[in-house]
Amino acid sequence: MRFLSSRRRSRAAKPLLLAFALFVTGALYAGFAPATQVSADAGTSALVAEGKALFQVSCSSCHGLNGEGTTQGPSLVGVGAAAVDFQVATGRMPMAHPGAQAPRKQNTFTEHEIAAMAAFVAALGPGPAIPEPPVYAPGNLDERAIARGGELFRTNCSACHNFEGGGGALPNGKYAPSLRGVEPIHIYEAMRTGPQQMPVFSAGAIPDAEAAAIIAYLEELHAQPSPGFTLGGLGPVSEGFFGWIIGVGGLCLIATWIASRGARAR
Ligand code: HEC
Ligand code: HEC
Repeated sequence: MRFLSSRRRSRAAKPLLLAFALFVTGALYAGFAPATQVSADAGTSALVAEGKALFQVSCSSCHGLNGEGTTQGPSLVGVGAAAVDFQVATGRMPMAHPGAQAPRKQNTFTEHEIAAMAAFVAALGPGPAIPEPPVYAPGNLDERAIARGGELFRTNCSACHNFEGGGGALPNGKYAPSLRGVEPIHIYEAMRTGPQQMPVFSAGAIPDAEAAAIIAYLEELHAQPSPGFTLGGLGPVSEGFFGWIIGVGGLCLIATWIASRGARAR
């Protein structure tokens, strides 16, 4: 008898225990979940609001109060946080005065202010995000990956930036700048956002691993001290031309000198 009743009791206790557990879980969830969600949203929207205020002071004269664009500057809807980080951190924006090209200059914003304006522009429409260090930092890629980076650079970039990344002129008074000393994060962002004349290289065209290889190649190239005398990395054709003029010119001078000595000796 006793055995039976205790079994009956435990049979009733199980559903009760389950209901109690569900209740506690539900109560805990109700207590915590919305709170954390609200605070995360409040954090982002505070950053967006801060970015919007900064943007309206520094950028809206050209890009419009809501980034919609004006006759002075393009719409920023969908350009992404990466474009803002690249343009502002390299000092290109705010543009000082309209011209053929927004040149690199001293950036006057703090990292936090840039992040806020980037968050505001990202909220206007989806676009490339600011990358995390593992994405763009070359780390320790082996020689093969770096050589592949060099190949990719010569195929995709050297037409404008020159085969040594030294930069070059483009039509209409524009130019592709030298890539010497450019931060890895800005190389990555330039590829993903395609500033001005530069095409966008999306992750479909150049996946992250290949982008990192290009960055590693540029770092290695520019870390190497030039072996003494350089011609400024003008390219094989111009350098060959110098070699021709100086080499053949030199030989002519020596020949003339020998001939004149010979004439004097006679
Ligand atoms: C004097 C006008 C002017 C001001 C001020 C200005 N911009 Fe610009 N901005 C431009 C112009 C013009 C371009 C287009 C450059 C080009 O493509 O030649 C541009 C381009 C950009 C781009 C690149 C868009 C793309 O398609 O990738 C971003 C991002 C940007 N601006 C952000 C800003 C931010 C943020 C500020 C404020 C800190 C700012 N700009 C202030 C004129 C301005
Ligand atoms: C069609 C020509 C063209 C090609 C191809 C091109 N770029 Fe550019 N690139 C430019 C121009 C023009 C600028 C300057 C944009 C500006 O000032 O806003 C630039 C700017 C940059 C910058 C910013 C440099 C700085 O001083 O902040 C980087 C980094 C860069 N390019 C990397 C690359 C890489 C890597 C590739 C190949 C994957 C590439 N570019 C291919 C034309 C080109």
